[in-house]
Amino acid sequence: MSKRIEVNDLNVYYSSFLAVEGVSLEIEPRTVTAFIGPSGCGKSTFLRTLNRMHEVIPGARVQGEVLIDGNNLYDSAVDPVLVRRQVGMVFQRPNPFPTMSIKENVLAGVRLNNKRMSKADADDLVEKSLQGANLWNEVKDRLDRPGSGLSGGQQQRLCIARTIAVSPEVILMDEPCSALDPISTLAIEDLIEELKQEYTIVIVTHNMQQASRVSDKTAFFNIAGTGKPGKLIEYDDTTTMFSNPSVKATEDYVSGRFG
Ligand SMILES: Nc1ncnc2c1ncn2[C@@H]1O[C@H](COP(=O)(O)OP(=O)(O)OP(=O)(O)O)[C@@H](O)[C@H]1O
Ligand SMILES: [Mg+2]
Repeated sequence: MSKRIEVNDLNVYYSSFLAVEGVSLEIEPRTVTAFIGPSGCGKSTFLRTLNRMHEVIPGARVQGEVLIDGNNLYDSAVDPVLVRRQVGMVFQRPNPFPTMSIKENVLAGVRLNNKRMSKADADDLVEKSLQGANLWNEVKDRLDRPGSGLSGGQQQRLCIARTIAVSPEVILMDEPCSALDPISTLAIEDLIEELKQEYTIVIVTHNMQQASRVSDKTAFFNIAGTGKPGKLIEYDDTTTMFSNPSVKATEDYVSGRFG
């Protein structure tokens, strides 16, 4: 189920603005990869190219290749809707549908995919997804109450349950803990550790402790200045990136001596 990602010489544009230039990297299945780097260096932009969410912005486009298990996501025959099912995304702010129940929130992605399901199958999927997101015990007695009634950390786990309910192969997370308290943050980090047994996970984070706690590999992005494209500066095992990076800029960034 888990998939390998290979990016070859990717340039990412917003109209004529080259936001990210020349990224090549490989991500192994069942690993966690952290993207780090200063604000504006293109972490979110690059992340969104991994499930074709970038191109929903008018004028946005890419050059280069993103291969998932050898298949280029950007081949003209590929349906972006299928790509987004295969490569799920969790956002910075938990975004449950406020008027929907907890249960319907979990099923929202599956329903979008038009899957007709018996009530028993739906109930099973809800339980399995909430178990997978480590939320089941906290919500099993109130599945019909609104998702918006949960705490921020619970809402983020609900969004993760919604993402895994469609059985993706890769999960992208853009600063999934930045709106959460430290306890909820640790709960999400524990969950990422568990999800990695089944999924390939990529997480953007500004929290260096988090990157070093949760990830196997770390990619450091940087920009030379305003209006310049972001670039991948260094990519290696997380322990190497934090203890013995090859590039001075990486060392400055991970040790907090930056700017
Ligand atoms: N919708 C957009 N249209 C035009 N330019 C954009 C758009 N979104 C982002 N950019 C530009 O692309 C560059 C990279 O932005 P991006 O949001 O990817 O950075 P980031 O590394 O995720 O930053 P942060 O850490 O603040 O989230 C920035 O110069 C930004 O202004
Ligand atoms: Mg961002």
